Amino acid sequence: MTAPVSPLVVRGPAELAEAAASWTAERIAAAVAQRGACHLALAGGETPRRCYQRLARPPYQDGVRWRSVFVYWSDERQVPLDDPASNYAMAKAALLDHVPIPADQVFPLVGDPTPALRRIPPDDRGWPCFDVIHLGLGEDGHTASLFPGSDALNERRAVVRAIHDAPKPPPDRLTLTLPVLNAARAVLFMVQGASKRDALARVLRRDPALPASQVEPVDGELLFIVDQEAFGG
Ligand code: 6PG
Repeated sequence: MTAPVSPLVVRGPAELAEAAASWTAERIAAAVAQRGACHLALAGGETPRRCYQRLARPPYQDGVRWRSVFVYWSDERQVPLDDPASNYAMAKAALLDHVPIPADQVFPLVGDPTPALRRIPPDDRGWPCFDVIHLGLGEDGHTASLFPGSDALNERRAVVRAIHDAPKPPPDRLTLTLPVLNAARAVLFMVQGASKRDALARVLRRDPALPASQVEPVDGELLFIVDQEAFGG
């Protein structure tokens, strides 16, 4: 059992969005300064929306070197990219339509994303090494589209897996695999709301039964930014 994780606890969703946006902007700046580019995987679901909307406004809208950012997703629902359920559609409306990331630097997780992922500079174990990965947390402890009991949790060769039985609709998804998540330089979980309290407590204690507990960057930073509702007390 690995050591428990201490989160950054903030008051509510607005404070979570601000803290997550600031943290992300700092890591984009560091990646661009050190390596000339930032490879960023965005999270799906509802929680990250406010962070992406915050990044689309000053000082981040004009202060971040967006032209050096390459955007991916940690998972995607297999729906049309203009479907309201699409994680790409959420990020496009909240962020991508408002900042100057070149279109050929945006890689929706559709079709066979492996070639695009394999163009990301690898770590010393050969895994695509994201500078930043955003993740959410489900009430059952899932993250990305890695759900409890899924065989995809055991994937140690592929960088992405198709899921066809996701308990959270829609059932058909694509997800980055654990080796890719754990190869990242920095992973940020954004967790808000009382409904996540039980799952968050168990993940912070590193309960191995929950997929999110298995996100342990080998050499990278792991941060949870959570609101008081999710943290409890
Ligand atoms: C998805 C997400 C999923 C999400 C959690 C939390 O595509 O559904 O990747 O892992 O992050 O289910 O979702 P909420 O932020 O909407 O609570």
